[in-house]
Amino acid sequence: MLKHLLKISDLTREQIEKLIARAKSPRMKERTFSLEKLAALLFYENSTRTRISFELAASAAGIKTINLDINTSSVKKDESITDTILTLGAMGCQYFVIRHSESGILEKIATELGSQFSFINAGDGQHAHPTQGLLDMLTIDQMKKKQFSELSVGILGDSIHSRVAKSDIAALQCLGCKDIRLIGPKEWLLSSMENVNVHQDEKALEGLDVIITLRVQKERMMNLDSEILDHYIQHYQLTSKRLKMAKPDAIVMHPGPMNRGIEITSEVADGPQSVILKQVENGVLMRTAIWEMMCI
Ligand code: CP
Repeated sequence: MLKHLLKISDLTREQIEKLIARAKSPRMKERTFSLEKLAALLFYENSTRTRISFELAASAAGIKTINLDINTSSVKKDESITDTILTLGAMGCQYFVIRHSESGILEKIATELGSQFSFINAGDGQHAHPTQGLLDMLTIDQMKKKQFSELSVGILGDSIHSRVAKSDIAALQCLGCKDIRLIGPKEWLLSSMENVNVHQDEKALEGLDVIITLRVQKERMMNLDSEILDHYIQHYQLTSKRLKMAKPDAIVMHPGPMNRGIEITSEVADGPQSVILKQVENGVLMRTAIWEMMCI
C-alpha cells in the first residue's frame, strides 16, 4: 500500500522496484493506451460553442477527451505547439482539435505530424473554421428544405477577418449555391472570391433566403474606433427593418458569439426568424457525425 507520494525517500527500494515492474508490464500498456480512443482539445484562442460541442460530440461517439487549459499548461513556459502535440501523443492522444490565432497553422501541423495523428481545425486565425461551415450547411438544409442551387445567401458584415465566412462560402459553393452575396463596408469586404458578389448597399438584402450575420471581429482590427462602429451600426446592423428587405421566410444566422447592438439587434437575434440557437444545437450533431466519420 502507498498512502502518499511526496518524495523519493518515502519509498523503499522494494517499492520502487515493484512500481517499475508494474509500469513496464505489457498488461499496463494495454490497459492505459489501448482501450479508448483519445482526443485532445487544444484551444489557443477562446471558445464556448466549438470546444463544448466537440466535447459533447466526442462523448456521444464514445471518444474520451482531454482539455488542455492553455493558460495553466507548459505553453506558458514557451513549449511549442509541435512539442505539445508530441507530448500528448506520447500519452496516447490520436486526435487533436485545435483552435489557434495563426492562419494556416493547421495545414503546417498536418504536414509535419499528419502521418502520426489526425487533426481537426476548430478555427485558425482569419483562414478557416470548417466545422462551423458544415454545421451552418446542416442548419440551412434543415430550415430551408430546398436545393442549395435555389437559395440566395447573404453574408453580412466583417467578411474579410472572418474564417466562418470563408468556410461558409466554400461549403455553399461545393453544395451548388450560385447566389452568394457579401454585404458590408468596403474595407471589411472580402473581395476577389470567384462567383461571389460583393455589395456595399443594403439593397443587396432584397430577396435573400438566408442572412448569415458576422461578428465584428474587434480583436482582429487595428483601427477600430467608435466612429467606424457607429457608421457600421447605422448602415449595416441587422435590424427588423433591414430584415424585412429579405424574403418573408428568410432565416437569420450568426455563428456567435454575438455583439448585440452592434452587428445585430436583440429583436432580430431573439426573433422568430432567428435560427442562432439551432446552429448551436446542430454544432453538437455535426461534430458527432465528424467524429464518427474520422474514428469509427
Ligand atoms: N462559432 C464559434 O466558433 O463560437 P466559439 O468561439 O464560441 O467556439
